[in-house]
Amino acid sequence: MRSKIPPEELPRVVLVTPRESDADFLARLNSPDVAGEFDTFDDPADDFLDAQSYAGDKRIVQTTDATRVGSVSWIQVPYGPNVRSLAWSIGVTIHPDFRGRRLGAAAQRHLAEMLFEGSDANRVQADTDVDNVAEQRSLERAGFTREGVARQAQWRQGRWHDRVVYSIVRSEALVAKKIDHDEGAGATTRVEKGTSS
Ligand SMILES: CC(C)(COP(=O)(O)OP(=O)(O)OC[C@H]1O[C@@H](n2cnc3c(N)ncnc32)[C@H](O)[C@@H]1OP(=O)(O)O)[C@@H](O)C(=O)NCCC(=O)NCCS
Repeated sequence: MRSKIPPEELPRVVLVTPRESDADFLARLNSPDVAGEFDTFDDPADDFLDAQSYAGDKRIVQTTDATRVGSVSWIQVPYGPNVRSLAWSIGVTIHPDFRGRRLGAAAQRHLAEMLFEGSDANRVQADTDVDNVAEQRSLERAGFTREGVARQAQWRQGRWHDRVVYSIVRSEALVAKKIDHDEGAGATTRVEKGTSS
């Protein structure tokens, strides 16, 4: 297993709400040559989930000089019938021009901290293809722990794929530092009912 890196040693990234002018960049990130074999789906348009129905959203990942380098997204997933047991499931794409600089790790760590800050969830998880070594290393660098394999969990490109599941829990991602994200991010991720303190 790769060693975890203290979050302060990861590169600084900023998570920014997409604007209309980001549409082309987001479409590029979603194209097969950028998303790659592990994140390209050929299902009919009607078969894609509406992320907003799962409290989902996305942010552009920028470096501190406002260079757009990728995107992150999240949806809510339940671990029982109660609001308290809602967790977040996250995803990331980094543009090939910027890969290998731990920006993926930084973005995922930053998103986890943002979600903990903006909600009462105790768990942020990510799952990735068993063969997606880059994403597995990136998550480990970000401080996520490998939990196991969810067998035949994802339908992609005509067959079922095993997914490695990773998580970080609130106590591991103490929100001690100032979070760099634009206003409103917390509001969109907050678990609205029942558990607000
Ligand atoms: C997965 C992805 C987000 C990683 O972004 P990144 O910014 O390059 O990630 P990081 O630099 O934080 O970490 C990548 C790690 O994997 C390593 N790596 C990269 N490509 C690799 C490969 N083909 N085989 C083995 N290791 C690889 C890097 O060396 C680095 O490890 P290190 O920290 O030990 O040096 C990026 O490759 C991507 O956008 N892929 C396409 C979309 C995708 O698969 N998203 C995840 C869907 S679940």
